[in-house]
Amino acid sequence: MTHARRTGATPLYLDCDTGVDDSLALAYLLASPETDLVGVGTVSGNIGARQGATNTLDLLALAGRGDVPVAVGAHDPLAGTFGGGPAHIHGHNGVGDVALPPSGLEPVAESAVDLLLRLSHEHAGELRVVAVGPLTNLAMALRQDPTLPGRVADVTIMGGAALHPGNVSPVAEANIANDPEAAAAVLSADWDVTLVPLDVTMRDVLEETDRKALLEAGTALAPWLGEVLDLYLGFYVETFGRRCCALHDPLAAALAVGGVRPAVAPRVHVTVDDSRGPGRGQTICDLRGLHAGYPDQPGARCRVVLETDAPLAPHLMERLLTL
Ligand code: BDR
Ligand code: CA
Repeated sequence: MTHARRTGATPLYLDCDTGVDDSLALAYLLASPETDLVGVGTVSGNIGARQGATNTLDLLALAGRGDVPVAVGAHDPLAGTFGGGPAHIHGHNGVGDVALPPSGLEPVAESAVDLLLRLSHEHAGELRVVAVGPLTNLAMALRQDPTLPGRVADVTIMGGAALHPGNVSPVAEANIANDPEAAAAVLSADWDVTLVPLDVTMRDVLEETDRKALLEAGTALAPWLGEVLDLYLGFYVETFGRRCCALHDPLAAALAVGGVRPAVAPRVHVTVDDSRGPGRGQTICDLRGLHAGYPDQPGARCRVVLETDAPLAPHLMERLLTL
């Protein structure tokens, strides 16, 4: 199937570990007229990279978008081996143990790294990259072609924790913790990065009433998203005391597309702890400018989103209900 370009829309490559909230990010992007999803690469995180690709293809097919190329990316992080995803959060198959209708589609033959590099040439200067899983593919792409940043408009990353506690250790967030070496390489590369950390993604939640609205949408994809969210909302009862969920990956997607905007997003130096100590995976964001209104730090290429201008959930629901 050939990909038909959306005229006037920004080309976007999504790198993900699909994943319940990755599914929401994917769906949001498909429903966003501002952007044209030109390719998806998968990486191990919530689930193995191959299963993530199957999930992605199944979701794309339900949305009638089997034309979007999906490439399997890195199975293992740069240092070490993938130990399996958190089945109690994303299910044994990554999509909440829901059996999505199989698309019958196959990933493209090229790797996620090759897909990203090819798209960066085809859309040089325009391509927007959104990464909502471990950063292995991006780091490998940088290794393979260090000139990549010169062809990418910007990079939006769901990951890290600035002032918020971590979610897999006291200081580390899962996407960064799953491949700190990759995150260190990506965050020190010569491109503009918007980091969307737990500080903002734990703030806006999707409620059980929203999930019910998805179930009852009467459209092709939204009811399946409602099914996929069931286990995830159950997991978050321990965190929030009720059935609802954080919106990590769709918030990164919405910030990339401009559906919500950063309200407080200091441009500061960010260092990733890739030591073997208790700080491994921490994103050390230099927020010492707090009391001076966060002046831009000379040479810093990373904006760390600490507040957004509007809640995501209503906007997200509006778009998801169209699919
Ligand atoms: C991030 O980790 C993954 O489990 C989610 O999909 C999200 O990208 C949140 O820490
Ligand atoms: Ca993810």
